[in-house]
Amino acid sequence: MLPQLQLPVLTTPAEIQAFKAMHPQQTVALVPTMGNLHEGHKSLIRLAKQRADVVIVSIFVNPTQFAPTEDFSQYPRTWEADLLACKSAGASAVLAPNPEALYPMGTPLDHRFSVVPPKKLTHQLCGLNRPTHFEGVATVVLKLFNWVQPNIAVFGEKDAQQLAILRWMVNDFGLPIELIGHPIVRQPDGLALSSRNQYLTTPEAKALALGLSTLLMGVQRFVQQAFTENPTAVISVEKTFQQKWESIAPQLPSSPTISWDYWQAVHRESFDPQAYFSPESLLLVAGKVGDVVRLIDNLALYPPNPNESVVNCS
Ligand code: PAJ
Repeated sequence: MLPQLQLPVLTTPAEIQAFKAMHPQQTVALVPTMGNLHEGHKSLIRLAKQRADVVIVSIFVNPTQFAPTEDFSQYPRTWEADLLACKSAGASAVLAPNPEALYPMGTPLDHRFSVVPPKKLTHQLCGLNRPTHFEGVATVVLKLFNWVQPNIAVFGEKDAQQLAILRWMVNDFGLPIELIGHPIVRQPDGLALSSRNQYLTTPEAKALALGLSTLLMGVQRFVQQAFTENPTAVISVEKTFQQKWESIAPQLPSSPTISWDYWQAVHRESFDPQAYFSPESLLLVAGKVGDVVRLIDNLALYPPNPNESVVNCS
């Protein structure tokens, strides 16, 4: 049999049902994305392929998770390259939802239903600067789940707050879907892969972006060491991040600069903010490199999988 050259592209629930009917009794994984796919996304697809027979990758730049001031129209759309990436990573089909079918009542909030995540999870970290973001994410993901009705869905730990909110949603609504988190995929130098890295155009901006992972790893090392010496040590989150950054910053380019949105620790499951580290801490940072490129990163104090994926994106 000739290898299938083209990936099926599905746009409506009816097309999804027809596609699933061609694969009866097979387990289905969904990998939701907004396209502009890189090695991080491809790793999610590969993991989905290991865990399910059929992998559907959705590509949809979801308008409801962008604030009016954010980059919805500027978000890079790279359809042809994305199809190739899906195909090479082992996807079975791509879902490119018809926007009118996905949002039949339109996108303004006074006309449609919306999934409002608990304030406990949204009124902190990225939710502070992006107050409606996670409502848009939860809404579109619930819609995609309803359309595809997958057995499993794979998300990246890169967006840790997003993953925590979606886990909470699945649990709270009793959705029969297993959520799988994939470790952050990084460049060999530590930078977490992100669609936004392409806007780091100068060597200085690239070097400065490394400040995020360097800070996280520095804080992780320091706190692990302190807990090894004294398991009941009381270690201030704010003071530790501040002091570590003061020791790292002089080694980085002085221009542009990073303006930090937050550096923080939360309990890795409950997402309760922590003033002092505990063995269950998840460390999270967000900052704008040169006041333009907003990057996020995180690291568990004791990663469950110490061999976090490191890929060379060159
Ligand atoms: P997007 O930013 O395209 O990301 C799609 C998925 O890829 C997310 O689960 C994200 O966490 C994961 N991902 C991105 N970079 C990664 C990296 N370096 N390592 C591991 N995983 C990585 O997140 C979204 O889209 C949207 O909010 C979406 C969930 C699709 C809803 O619109």
